[in-house]
Amino acid sequence: MNKDNPVGVFDSGIGGLTVLQKIIETLPRENTVYLGDTARSPYGTKSVETVLRFSFENADFLIDKGVKLVVVACNTSTAVALESLRENVSVPVVGVIEPGVRAALEKTRNKKVGVIGTEATIQSGAYTKSLKAFDPNIEVYSRTCPLFVPLVEEGWVDNAVVKMTVESYLSSLKQSGIDTLILGCTHYPLLKRAIRKFMGRQVQLVDSAAETAKSIHATLKQESIARERGKGSHSFFVTDAPERFIKVGQRFLGEKVESAVRIER
Ligand code: DGL
Repeated sequence: MNKDNPVGVFDSGIGGLTVLQKIIETLPRENTVYLGDTARSPYGTKSVETVLRFSFENADFLIDKGVKLVVVACNTSTAVALESLRENVSVPVVGVIEPGVRAALEKTRNKKVGVIGTEATIQSGAYTKSLKAFDPNIEVYSRTCPLFVPLVEEGWVDNAVVKMTVESYLSSLKQSGIDTLILGCTHYPLLKRAIRKFMGRQVQLVDSAAETAKSIHATLKQESIARERGKGSHSFFVTDAPERFIKVGQRFLGEKVESAVRIER
């Protein structure tokens, strides 16, 4: 595999740009191809069968683009499809769950870990399974936070509505005595401030996006496919009209998405 080949990243839509941002920050030499399945987002409320099918279509698209590694930036897709993708795809596949789990296990002192995510992610039990596989004594407290995704896409990350929503979703988690909370969804890193304010400094937040970038770095090195020179270039593909992706994308990527190409599904 040529080291100049891009790293492929897919997500249900815009949110995976939080993962891409960390990849670009950590691995500035890498070329990337991002696919946001904006026409069919959100995945978080869909069935296992549908998320599996969409995830395979996304991975196939990236493979056709010649990627050397596939990053499943979407927590929902990772929860539902990672294992099957790994069995069926010809390049290494990195998901966002295991990196977050490892970081949480390093951080927790009292072995009480909280996980928040979409309905499909929490229902799959993927985080709990992975945490317990590493340490059977871990107590896991999980909660779905369905309104967080639309709030973030609206650009509402720190106002009165956010405060109320955070309070109502996270009160029971706060009472459970967790000392670590995994932000198990692409959108949640943007709510870090509001979540930290409510949970207090004693609860450590795990940003899966940042942890995943470290794991990609390790995989590229291990497979000897890391790009060693130059500055990476980045291209974007979407399955719906690109205007909204370009506009909202900045919020997630922290810089402008110059253009995105629409592909037909
Ligand atoms: N990307 C999804 C995730 O990380 C959130 C948005 C959606 O539901 O599609 O779970």
